[in-house]
Amino acid sequence: MRYSQSTLSLFAGLSSFSTIVNSQGGYYGSAPSASCKPSNTTVDLSWHAPVKSGINDLSTVINGTGIYGFVFNTSQGPLSTYDWCNMPHTNVHTYPKVNDSSYKLEYVEVIHRHHKRTPYAANTFPVESYSWDCSDEGLFFGGKPINPYGNDSASTYWEVYTSPSNPLVPEGFNGTCQFPQITRGGLDDSHQHGVDLKAVYSGMLGFIPEQYNRSLVSYRVTNNVITSQVASMLIAGMYPGRANRDTPLLIQPDSIDSLEPAYTCSSASHLFSSYGSGSSAPSWHQHLNDAASLYAKLDALSGVNPNASDWHMSFDHYFDNLSARLCHAKPLPCDIVNTTNCVTEAEANEVFRLGEYEYSFIYRDSNQSFPASVGSYGIWVAELAQNIRHAMGDGQSSVNATSPQIRYRHNVAHDGSISRLLAILQLDRMVWPGMGSEVVFELYSKSGCYFLRVLWGGQIMNSSNPSLGRLDMVPIDTILAYFDGLVGVGASKIPGICQTPECAVDGEGCA
Ligand SMILES: *[C@@H]1O[C@H](CO)[C@@H](O)[C@H](O)[C@H]1NC(C)=O
Ligand SMILES: *[C@@H]1O[C@H](CO)[C@@H](O)[C@H](O)[C@H]1NC(C)=O
Ligand SMILES: *[C@@H]1O[C@H](CO)[C@@H](O)[C@H](O)[C@H]1NC(C)=O
Ligand SMILES: *[C@@H]1O[C@H](CO)[C@@H](O)[C@H](O)[C@H]1NC(C)=O
Ligand SMILES: *[C@@H]1O[C@H](CO)[C@@H](O)[C@H](O)[C@H]1NC(C)=O
Ligand SMILES: *[C@@H]1O[C@H](CO)[C@@H](O)[C@H](O)[C@H]1NC(C)=O
Ligand SMILES: *[C@@H]1O[C@H](CO)[C@@H](O)[C@H](O)[C@H]1NC(C)=O
Ligand SMILES: *[C@@H]1O[C@H](CO)[C@@H](O)[C@H](O)[C@H]1NC(C)=O
Ligand SMILES: *[C@@H]1O[C@H](CO)[C@@H](O)[C@H](O)[C@H]1NC(C)=O
Ligand SMILES: *[C@@H]1O[C@H](CO)[C@@H](O)[C@H](O)[C@H]1NC(C)=O
Ligand SMILES: *[C@@H]1O[C@H](CO)[C@@H](O)[C@H](O)[C@H]1NC(C)=O
Ligand SMILES: *[C@@H]1O[C@H](CO)[C@@H](O)[C@H](O)[C@H]1NC(C)=O
Repeated sequence: MRYSQSTLSLFAGLSSFSTIVNSQGGYYGSAPSASCKPSNTTVDLSWHAPVKSGINDLSTVINGTGIYGFVFNTSQGPLSTYDWCNMPHTNVHTYPKVNDSSYKLEYVEVIHRHHKRTPYAANTFPVESYSWDCSDEGLFFGGKPINPYGNDSASTYWEVYTSPSNPLVPEGFNGTCQFPQITRGGLDDSHQHGVDLKAVYSGMLGFIPEQYNRSLVSYRVTNNVITSQVASMLIAGMYPGRANRDTPLLIQPDSIDSLEPAYTCSSASHLFSSYGSGSSAPSWHQHLNDAASLYAKLDALSGVNPNASDWHMSFDHYFDNLSARLCHAKPLPCDIVNTTNCVTEAEANEVFRLGEYEYSFIYRDSNQSFPASVGSYGIWVAELAQNIRHAMGDGQSSVNATSPQIRYRHNVAHDGSISRLLAILQLDRMVWPGMGSEVVFELYSKSGCYFLRVLWGGQIMNSSNPSLGRLDMVPIDTILAYFDGLVGVGASKIPGICQTPECAVDGEGCA
């Protein structure tokens, strides 16, 4: 509780969060038109509660059945249905075509979660009853002289093995995988994701050319290698001519990576841990207490120590543990000794309902989700805003390493990235962003004015914030006033937001 007291005041500097700001902006193309400067752009920078649904209703979570029609056991779910293994994304069959042909697409920025993977080692049971093999794929690592090219290198990949002379047992499954790594199925899903985006933005809209052109298209990854594993397949899906060709992936230094995000934002970390996973907040503990009998069953069956705090401060570990199996057509686990005592489908569904509830709580239902997400993801949002400005002819882009003509930027990220972004956009119905979860920002011009459309899972996003509302051709002044009001141009507000002066002052430390 110490944190919740001091952290609330940490965000005192964010008093503008509950205010309405007036935008002075007014973006024109080459032919300024008076109608594109709104006479009164007022933007609401405060948090607004998401829609109430089964997902954030505890009695449905605890006493309900099923999992809202969501899919957890195949990458080939119906289009437009939540599929944890392979979330809906932009594709020619469901793309909401802009009917008014006077809107011209000017710039596209895509961000999505990586595709399906083996579980993180920390989420595997102490003893697994089966092994997991990844010998149907290679994880390539290597180096090669470029700028200028020198001698060629071999394309080297990892062959994971355990040694009979090494007496230690690895964390996680036996077998030939890293935990985590993108699986063969996840690589195939990544490839298809690229094929689908290309079919829309090149085949259908002619916005990007058929052939790869690094002056027009760029890709960015995080410091976690699984995003590069996805990008390598996705790019070849978009541009088959890229297969086995050298292709740059933009990446920021680990310590300041805004995409993952990996930069330090102490105030946001403390705020998250004051109300969410790991906190002692009663509003957080309620669902954990209500799920006591489920926990007892899962702990007894899996051998997880009921005292293991990382398994019991949230359902994250059990969720990953069970869903990763199902996405790869592996059975739900059974007791190692009493092999007829297995996790049932109903129990797995309850774990999934609890996980969805937790993400909704952490990123939308708690009003603290908003300042915590703004602090920890504000830099990426400022970069996006700068790329939008650049596309309108106003200043440099956020990436001066690439051509100034980039019109399609593609970011491969994580659930923590997508969740924070959805929190900032105030998605009306929050869910846990499954594998491949995608948000697309499309900038349009019309009669010299600019507008933004945002797609979530390939469909137009709805925000609970009244200034954003249905994110369909929102005047760019409104969007930029919202982003700038929260994070500042060039993320100028973020260093201040992220500081935790109280920790230094009250001598309690911030650990
Ligand atoms: C602008 O809009 C806000 C909110 O709708 C309203 O309160 C305010 O009076 C308006 N200002 C002007 C100058 O019209
Ligand atoms: C679930 O149902 C039980 C039995 O009816 C009830 O005691 C409990 O309060 C319910 N839990 C929630 C969170 O509604
Ligand atoms: C996935 O789960 C659903 C619901 O239990 C079931 O009907 C379906 O057959 C399963 N599909 C696969 C591929 O296992
Ligand atoms: C375009 O028009 C079709 C047919 O009226 C409609 O179904 C679709 O939703 C429209 N697209 C958008 C983006 O509004
Ligand atoms: C699930 O957790 C159990 C218990 O820690 C572990 O043995 C197992 O490897 C995990 N499996 C997955 C798929 O995460
Ligand atoms: C995993 O490997 C360890 C050490 O080699 C062995 O003791 C254990 O039985 C293996 N487990 C499975 C499920 O193969
Ligand atoms: C290629 O390798 C050979 C042998 O080490 C070396 O002599 C040569 O300079 C290298 N070429 C380049 C372009 O670096
Ligand atoms: C790539 O795009 C740039 C910018 O539009 C253009 O100047 C160049 O000719 C293109 N390159 C190719 C190979 O088409
Ligand atoms: C859990 O911790 C309590 C108190 O430290 C201890 O008495 C108990 O034996 C522990 N239980 C397990 C399963 O380790
Ligand atoms: C094994 O598990 C089954 C199903 O949970 C249970 O009915 C049975 O009593 C258990 N057997 C032993 C020996 O614990
Ligand atoms: C969250 O809501 C509570 C009460 O509803 C209020 O006291 C608190 O100031 C709000 N916090 C933020 C960060 O908006
Ligand atoms: C890119 O930006 C950095 C930091 O502002 C600057 O040092 C560098 O010279 C710039 N590079 C180019 C090519 O503009």
